[in-house]
Amino acid sequence: MVSEELLEKLNDQMNFEFFSSHAYLALAAYCASESWEGFSNWFVRQAEEEQAHGMKIFNFINDLGKRATISGMESPKNDTHSVLEAFESAYAHEQEVTRRIYALSDIALNEREHATYQFLKWFIDEQVEEESTVDSIVQRLRRIGNDGNALFILDAELGKRGAAPAAQ
Ligand code: FEO
Repeated sequence: MVSEELLEKLNDQMNFEFFSSHAYLALAAYCASESWEGFSNWFVRQAEEEQAHGMKIFNFINDLGKRATISGMESPKNDTHSVLEAFESAYAHEQEVTRRIYALSDIALNEREHATYQFLKWFIDEQVEEESTVDSIVQRLRRIGNDGNALFILDAELGKRGAAPAAQ
């Protein structure tokens, strides 16, 4: 049986995933405004993924026989000034998501709410991949520095990112 506290935290995480989607769209907008179409594509795909993450929790709350509460949200960061800064803020954001998923999982474990913990396990695994992917791009961008040709190559590579399969 999910406690009120756990339900509230699940709901908070659902809304944070939707906020994440907005945060990535803002980064996509910056990249598009600088004609970095590949980087912009990567962030648009990431925004789509975050929307799917939010819906995954929305559906889980429904499955629990509870009602999700959709909240308003603050504006994401809209004053990015470089591609490196965009990916650095993405990495910091994913670290925050991981902290939140861990805190949520701690509550589920403390309550011995195994079904919810099992559900959250998917997010725990996903965060390992998310952090690793973004960190790798940050490291590559730092190495690239002001090398325009290398930046064009990475932009083209990230432009190939396609839509992820819908989260189950
Ligand atoms: Fe849904 Fe990127 O965390």
